[in-house]
Amino acid sequence: MNFPTRVKLVDVGPRDGLQNEKQHVPVAIKIELVHRLQAAGLKEIEVTSFVSPKWVPQMADNAQVMAGIARVPGIRYSVLTPNLQGLQAALPCRPDEIVVFAAASQTFSQKNTNCSIEESIERFAPMVQTARDAGIYVRGALSCAVGCPFEGDVPPASVERLALMMKQIGVQHVGVADTIGVGTPRKIQAAMQAALKHYDLNDVSGHFHDTYGQALANTLASLEMGVWQFDASVAGLGGCPYAKGATGNVATEDLVYMLHGMGIETGIDLDKLVDAGTFISDHLQRKSNSRVATALLNKRA
Ligand code: HMG
Ligand code: MG
Repeated sequence: MNFPTRVKLVDVGPRDGLQNEKQHVPVAIKIELVHRLQAAGLKEIEVTSFVSPKWVPQMADNAQVMAGIARVPGIRYSVLTPNLQGLQAALPCRPDEIVVFAAASQTFSQKNTNCSIEESIERFAPMVQTARDAGIYVRGALSCAVGCPFEGDVPPASVERLALMMKQIGVQHVGVADTIGVGTPRKIQAAMQAALKHYDLNDVSGHFHDTYGQALANTLASLEMGVWQFDASVAGLGGCPYAKGATGNVATEDLVYMLHGMGIETGIDLDKLVDAGTFISDHLQRKSNSRVATALLNKRA
Protein backbone atom coordinates (compact mmCIF):
# COMPACT_ATOMS: atom_id res chain seq x y z
CA MET A 1 0.00 0.00 0.00
CA ASN A 2 1.23 3.46 -0.83
CA PHE A 3 -0.23 5.51 1.98
CA PRO A 4 0.44 9.24 2.06
CA THR A 5 3.15 10.25 4.55
CA ARG A 6 1.33 13.42 5.58
CA VAL A 7 -2.36 14.14 6.02
CA LYS A 8 -4.16 17.45 6.30
CA LEU A 9 -7.13 17.51 8.62
CA VAL A 10 -9.85 20.15 8.64
CA ASP A 11 -11.68 20.38 11.94
CA VAL A 12 -15.32 21.04 11.13
CA GLY A 13 -16.44 20.82 14.77
CA PRO A 14 -17.29 24.49 15.25
CA ARG A 15 -19.57 24.32 12.18
CA ASP A 16 -20.75 20.77 11.38
CA GLY A 17 -20.34 19.85 15.04
CA LEU A 18 -22.26 22.67 16.63
CA GLN A 19 -24.86 23.43 13.93
CA ASN A 20 -27.10 20.66 15.23
CA GLU A 21 -26.94 21.63 18.92
CA LYS A 22 -30.35 22.45 20.34
CA GLN A 23 -28.92 24.36 23.31
CA HIS A 24 -27.56 27.80 22.55
CA VAL A 25 -23.76 27.77 22.56
CA PRO A 26 -22.39 31.22 23.46
CA VAL A 27 -20.15 33.05 21.01
CA ALA A 28 -17.29 33.07 23.54
CA ILE A 29 -17.36 29.27 23.79
CA LYS A 30 -17.27 28.89 20.01
CA ILE A 31 -14.33 31.27 19.80
CA GLU A 32 -12.49 29.47 22.59
CA LEU A 33 -13.04 26.17 20.78
CA VAL A 34 -11.46 27.58 17.62
CA HIS A 35 -8.54 28.93 19.68
CA ARG A 36 -7.98 25.54 21.27
CA LEU A 37 -8.10 23.78 17.91
CA GLN A 38 -5.52 26.11 16.44
CA ALA A 39 -3.35 25.67 19.54
CA ALA A 40 -3.55 21.91 18.97
CA GLY A 41 -2.04 22.36 15.52
CA LEU A 42 -5.03 22.30 13.20
CA LYS A 43 -4.14 24.15 10.01
CA GLU A 44 -7.70 24.56 8.81
CA ILE A 45 -10.84 25.12 10.83
CA GLU A 46 -14.40 25.29 9.49
CA VAL A 47 -15.63 28.03 11.75
CA THR A 48 -19.28 28.67 10.95
CA SER A 49 -21.87 28.97 8.21
CA PHE A 50 -23.64 31.94 6.66
CA VAL A 51 -26.92 30.10 6.18
CA SER A 52 -30.45 31.23 7.00
CA PRO A 53 -30.86 31.63 10.79
CA LYS A 54 -34.42 30.37 10.35
CA TRP A 55 -33.03 27.10 9.02
CA VAL A 56 -30.07 26.77 11.38
CA PRO A 57 -30.45 29.09 14.40
CA GLN A 58 -27.21 27.90 16.02
CA MET A 59 -25.13 29.55 13.27
CA ALA A 60 -26.86 32.96 13.53
CA ASP A 61 -23.83 34.36 15.38
CA ASN A 62 -21.54 33.65 12.39
CA ALA A 63 -20.13 37.17 12.01
CA GLN A 64 -19.52 37.59 15.75
CA VAL A 65 -17.64 34.31 15.92
CA MET A 66 -15.49 35.19 12.91
CA ALA A 67 -14.78 38.65 14.36
CA GLY A 68 -13.71 37.25 17.73
CA ILE A 69 -11.05 34.83 16.53
CA ALA A 70 -7.44 35.79 17.09
CA ARG A 71 -6.16 34.55 13.79
CA VAL A 72 -2.89 32.77 13.43
CA PRO A 73 -0.99 33.25 10.16
CA GLY A 74 -0.88 30.07 8.10
CA ILE A 75 -4.21 28.76 9.39
CA ARG A 76 -7.18 28.70 7.04
CA TYR A 77 -10.57 29.73 8.38
CA SER A 78 -13.41 28.44 6.22
CA VAL A 79 -17.14 29.12 6.26
CA LEU A 80 -20.16 27.59 4.54
CA THR A 81 -22.12 29.78 2.14
CA PRO A 82 -25.35 28.47 0.59
CA ASN A 83 -26.16 31.43 -1.67
CA LEU A 84 -25.09 34.92 -2.73
CA GLN A 85 -26.71 36.44 0.34
CA GLY A 86 -24.59 34.19 2.53
CA LEU A 87 -21.44 35.00 0.58
CA GLN A 88 -22.08 38.75 0.85
CA ALA A 89 -22.53 38.41 4.60
CA ALA A 90 -19.37 36.33 4.85
CA LEU A 91 -17.07 38.57 2.79
CA PRO A 92 -16.54 41.31 5.41
CA CYS A 93 -15.44 38.53 7.80
CA ARG A 94 -12.54 37.71 5.48
CA PRO A 95 -12.79 33.93 5.28
CA ASP A 96 -9.81 32.23 3.65
CA GLU A 97 -12.10 29.72 2.06
CA ILE A 98 -15.79 29.30 1.38
CA VAL A 99 -17.61 26.01 1.12
CA VAL A 100 -20.50 25.64 -1.29
CA PHE A 101 -22.55 22.54 -0.64
CA ALA A 102 -24.68 20.50 -2.97
CA ALA A 103 -26.06 16.98 -2.80
CA ALA A 104 -25.80 13.98 -5.09
CA SER A 105 -29.46 13.27 -4.29
CA GLN A 106 -32.35 15.52 -5.36
CA THR A 107 -34.48 14.98 -2.27
CA PHE A 108 -31.67 15.90 0.10
CA SER A 109 -30.91 18.97 -2.01
CA GLN A 110 -34.51 20.11 -1.58
CA LYS A 111 -34.63 19.36 2.14
CA ASN A 112 -31.27 20.97 2.91
CA THR A 113 -31.25 23.97 0.61
CA ASN A 114 -34.79 24.24 -0.76
CA CYS A 115 -33.73 23.83 -4.37
CA SER A 116 -32.80 21.18 -6.91
CA ILE A 117 -29.21 20.10 -7.56
CA GLU A 118 -29.18 22.09 -10.80
CA GLU A 119 -30.57 25.20 -9.10
CA SER A 120 -27.89 24.97 -6.42
CA ILE A 121 -25.20 24.92 -9.10
CA GLU A 122 -26.80 27.96 -10.76
CA ARG A 123 -26.68 29.75 -7.40
CA PHE A 124 -23.06 28.84 -6.87
CA ALA A 125 -21.69 29.89 -10.26
CA PRO A 126 -21.63 33.67 -9.60
CA MET A 127 -20.54 33.06 -6.00
CA VAL A 128 -17.53 31.05 -7.09
CA GLN A 129 -16.56 33.82 -9.47
CA THR A 130 -16.91 36.53 -6.82
CA ALA A 131 -15.01 34.55 -4.21
CA ARG A 132 -12.16 33.62 -6.51
CA ASP A 133 -11.87 37.20 -7.76
CA ALA A 134 -11.46 38.18 -4.10
CA GLY A 135 -8.69 35.60 -3.68
CA ILE A 136 -10.84 33.25 -1.59
CA TYR A 137 -10.40 29.53 -2.13
CA VAL A 138 -13.58 27.63 -3.03
CA ARG A 139 -14.28 24.15 -1.78
CA GLY A 140 -17.39 22.18 -2.63
CA ALA A 141 -19.14 19.54 -0.53
CA LEU A 142 -20.70 16.59 -2.36
CA SER A 143 -23.34 15.54 0.16
CA CYS A 144 -25.00 12.14 0.20
CA ALA A 145 -22.17 10.71 -1.89
CA VAL A 146 -23.06 7.14 -0.98
CA GLY A 147 -26.45 7.31 0.68
CA CYS A 148 -29.38 9.65 1.17
CA PRO A 149 -31.74 9.65 4.16
CA PHE A 150 -34.68 9.89 1.78
CA GLU A 151 -33.61 8.05 -1.39
CA GLY A 152 -31.36 5.31 0.00
CA ASP A 153 -28.30 4.21 -1.99
CA VAL A 154 -26.75 6.86 -4.21
CA PRO A 155 -24.88 5.59 -7.29
CA PRO A 156 -21.33 6.78 -8.09
CA ALA A 157 -22.68 8.16 -11.38
CA SER A 158 -24.60 10.81 -9.41
CA VAL A 159 -21.40 11.81 -7.61
CA GLU A 160 -19.53 12.01 -10.89
CA ARG A 161 -22.25 14.20 -12.38
CA LEU A 162 -22.18 16.56 -9.41
CA ALA A 163 -18.37 16.70 -9.38
CA LEU A 164 -18.42 17.64 -13.07
CA MET A 165 -20.94 20.42 -12.43
CA MET A 166 -18.77 21.75 -9.61
CA LYS A 167 -15.69 21.62 -11.84
CA GLN A 168 -17.46 23.47 -14.64
CA ILE A 169 -18.31 26.43 -12.41
CA GLY A 170 -14.77 26.69 -11.02
CA VAL A 171 -14.99 25.00 -7.63
CA GLN A 172 -11.36 24.23 -6.75
CA HIS A 173 -11.69 21.25 -4.43
CA VAL A 174 -14.43 18.77 -3.61
CA GLY A 175 -15.14 16.84 -0.45
CA VAL A 176 -16.81 13.48 -0.85
CA ALA A 177 -19.32 13.56 1.99
CA ASP A 178 -21.01 10.61 3.61
CA THR A 179 -23.61 12.83 5.24
CA ILE A 180 -25.38 10.09 7.14
CA GLY A 181 -22.42 7.80 7.73
CA VAL A 182 -23.84 4.75 5.96
CA GLY A 183 -20.89 4.14 3.66
CA THR A 184 -18.57 1.16 3.79
CA PRO A 185 -15.03 1.05 2.32
CA ARG A 186 -15.76 -0.19 -1.21
CA LYS A 187 -18.71 2.15 -1.65
CA ILE A 188 -16.60 5.07 -0.44
CA GLN A 189 -13.84 4.10 -2.87
CA ALA A 190 -16.35 4.07 -5.72
CA ALA A 191 -17.61 7.54 -4.73
CA MET A 192 -14.02 8.80 -4.46
CA GLN A 193 -13.22 7.32 -7.85
CA ALA A 194 -16.22 9.17 -9.29
CA ALA A 195 -15.01 12.50 -7.91
CA LEU A 196 -11.48 11.74 -9.12
CA LYS A 197 -12.75 11.54 -12.70
CA HIS A 198 -13.00 15.33 -12.62
CA TYR A 199 -10.65 16.40 -9.82
CA ASP A 200 -6.98 15.82 -9.16
CA LEU A 201 -6.03 13.66 -6.19
CA ASN A 202 -4.72 16.79 -4.46
CA ASP A 203 -8.11 18.46 -4.79
CA VAL A 204 -10.32 15.79 -3.23
CA SER A 205 -11.02 15.12 0.43
CA GLY A 206 -13.17 12.83 2.55
CA HIS A 207 -15.90 13.99 4.94
CA PHE A 208 -17.21 10.99 6.80
CA HIS A 209 -19.92 11.01 9.40
CA ASP A 210 -19.59 8.11 11.81
CA THR A 211 -23.20 7.11 12.36
CA TYR A 212 -22.58 3.43 11.66
CA GLY A 213 -19.01 3.40 13.00
CA GLN A 214 -17.45 3.08 9.54
CA ALA A 215 -15.62 6.38 9.28
CA LEU A 216 -12.13 5.14 10.24
CA ALA A 217 -12.43 2.20 7.86
CA ASN A 218 -13.64 4.57 5.16
CA THR A 219 -10.70 6.87 5.83
CA LEU A 220 -8.29 3.95 5.52
CA ALA A 221 -9.92 2.95 2.23
CA SER A 222 -9.45 6.52 0.97
CA LEU A 223 -5.83 6.64 2.17
CA GLU A 224 -5.22 3.51 0.12
CA MET A 225 -6.24 5.51 -2.93
CA GLY A 226 -3.80 8.29 -2.02
CA VAL A 227 -6.41 10.71 -0.67
CA TRP A 228 -4.65 12.80 1.99
CA GLN A 229 -7.18 15.40 3.12
CA PHE A 230 -10.02 14.72 5.52
CA ASP A 231 -12.60 16.57 7.57
CA ALA A 232 -13.16 15.52 11.15
CA SER A 233 -14.95 16.92 14.17
CA VAL A 234 -13.36 17.31 17.59
CA ALA A 235 -15.07 15.03 20.14
CA GLY A 236 -17.09 13.65 17.21
CA LEU A 237 -19.57 16.49 17.64
CA GLY A 238 -22.42 17.03 15.33
CA GLY A 239 -24.76 15.97 12.62
CA CYS A 240 -26.84 17.60 9.92
CA PRO A 241 -30.18 19.08 11.00
CA TYR A 242 -31.69 17.87 7.70
CA ALA A 243 -30.43 14.27 7.99
CA LYS A 244 -32.45 12.77 10.84
CA GLY A 245 -30.53 10.40 13.11
CA ALA A 246 -27.15 11.07 11.50
CA THR A 247 -24.41 11.60 14.04
CA GLY A 248 -21.24 13.66 13.89
CA ASN A 249 -18.16 13.34 11.77
CA VAL A 250 -15.44 10.96 12.78
CA ALA A 251 -13.78 12.36 15.91
CA THR A 252 -10.60 14.24 15.05
CA GLU A 253 -8.89 12.59 18.03
CA ASP A 254 -9.66 9.11 16.65
CA LEU A 255 -8.37 10.01 13.22
CA VAL A 256 -5.18 11.56 14.59
CA TYR A 257 -4.50 8.50 16.74
CA MET A 258 -4.92 6.17 13.77
CA LEU A 259 -2.77 8.29 11.46
CA HIS A 260 0.04 8.77 13.98
CA GLY A 261 -0.08 5.05 14.72
CA MET A 262 0.47 4.44 11.01
CA GLY A 263 3.44 6.81 10.97
CA ILE A 264 1.49 9.44 9.04
CA GLU A 265 2.13 13.06 10.06
CA THR A 266 -0.67 15.48 10.83
CA GLY A 267 1.13 18.27 12.70
CA ILE A 268 -1.46 17.90 15.46
CA ASP A 269 -0.71 17.53 19.17
CA LEU A 270 -3.10 14.79 20.29
CA ASP A 271 -3.00 15.79 23.97
CA LYS A 272 -3.94 19.38 23.20
CA LEU A 273 -6.65 18.13 20.86
CA VAL A 274 -8.08 15.96 23.63
CA ASP A 275 -8.11 19.06 25.84
CA ALA A 276 -10.05 20.97 23.16
CA GLY A 277 -12.55 18.11 22.96
CA THR A 278 -12.87 18.02 26.75
CA PHE A 279 -13.47 21.77 26.81
CA ILE A 280 -16.45 21.60 24.44
CA SER A 281 -17.82 18.32 25.83
CA ASP A 282 -17.77 19.78 29.36
CA HIS A 283 -19.57 22.86 28.13
CA LEU A 284 -22.24 20.73 26.46
CA GLN A 285 -22.34 18.53 29.58
CA ARG A 286 -21.84 15.47 27.49
CA LYS A 287 -19.30 12.70 27.17
CA SER A 288 -17.01 12.90 24.17
CA ASN A 289 -17.89 10.69 21.20
CA SER A 290 -14.19 10.04 20.68
CA ARG A 291 -13.05 6.60 21.77
CA VAL A 292 -9.44 7.80 21.79
CA ALA A 293 -10.23 10.83 23.97
CA THR A 294 -12.11 8.59 26.40
CA ALA A 295 -9.20 6.14 26.57
CA LEU A 296 -6.61 8.86 27.06
CA LEU A 297 -8.68 10.64 29.70
CA ASN A 298 -9.12 7.36 31.59
CA LYS A 299 -5.39 6.87 31.46
CA ARG A 300 -4.73 10.40 32.71
CA ALA A 301 -7.11 9.84 35.62
P1 HMG B 1 -35.00 29.76 1.44
O1 HMG B 1 -36.01 29.86 2.54
O2 HMG B 1 -35.43 29.07 0.17
O3 HMG B 1 -34.37 31.19 1.12
O4 HMG B 1 -33.74 29.02 2.04
P2 HMG B 1 -34.92 32.42 0.32
O5 HMG B 1 -33.85 32.88 -0.61
O6 HMG B 1 -36.29 32.15 -0.24
O7 HMG B 1 -35.06 33.54 1.48
C1 HMG B 1 -35.99 33.38 2.56
C2 HMG B 1 -35.52 34.15 3.77
O8 HMG B 1 -34.27 33.65 4.21
C3 HMG B 1 -35.30 35.64 3.51
O9 HMG B 1 -35.60 36.30 4.74
C4 HMG B 1 -33.82 35.74 3.28
O10 HMG B 1 -33.31 37.01 3.62
C5 HMG B 1 -33.28 34.70 4.23
P3 HMG B 1 -37.02 37.00 5.01
O11 HMG B 1 -37.20 37.95 3.86
O12 HMG B 1 -38.03 35.89 4.99
O13 HMG B 1 -36.83 37.62 6.36
N1 HMG B 1 -32.00 34.14 3.78
C6 HMG B 1 -30.85 34.23 4.48
N2 HMG B 1 -30.56 34.76 5.68
C7 HMG B 1 -29.28 34.69 6.08
N3 HMG B 1 -28.29 34.09 5.38
C8 HMG B 1 -28.54 33.55 4.18
C9 HMG B 1 -29.87 33.62 3.68
N4 HMG B 1 -30.45 33.19 2.55
C10 HMG B 1 -31.74 33.52 2.61
N5 HMG B 1 -27.57 32.98 3.49
C11 HMG B 1 -31.36 28.55 2.07
C12 HMG B 1 -32.62 28.68 1.22
C13 HMG B 1 -30.29 27.94 1.20
C14 HMG B 1 -30.94 29.92 2.57
C15 HMG B 1 -31.71 27.64 3.29
O14 HMG B 1 -32.23 26.45 2.79
C16 HMG B 1 -30.50 27.34 4.14
O15 HMG B 1 -30.00 28.22 4.84
N6 HMG B 1 -30.03 26.09 4.11
C17 HMG B 1 -28.83 25.67 4.83
C18 HMG B 1 -29.12 24.42 5.62
C19 HMG B 1 -27.86 24.05 6.34
O16 HMG B 1 -27.13 24.87 6.84
N7 HMG B 1 -27.61 22.73 6.42
C20 HMG B 1 -26.46 22.22 7.11
C21 HMG B 1 -25.17 22.53 6.40
S1 HMG B 1 -24.84 21.42 5.06
C22 HMG B 1 -24.15 20.03 5.82
O17 HMG B 1 -24.12 19.95 7.03
C23 HMG B 1 -23.51 19.00 4.95
C24 HMG B 1 -21.98 19.05 4.97
O18 HMG B 1 -21.48 18.87 6.28
C25 HMG B 1 -21.43 17.90 4.10
C26 HMG B 1 -22.13 16.59 4.44
O19 HMG B 1 -21.97 16.07 5.54
O20 HMG B 1 -22.87 16.15 3.55
C27 HMG B 1 -21.44 20.36 4.41
MG1 MG C 1 -21.29 17.03 7.31
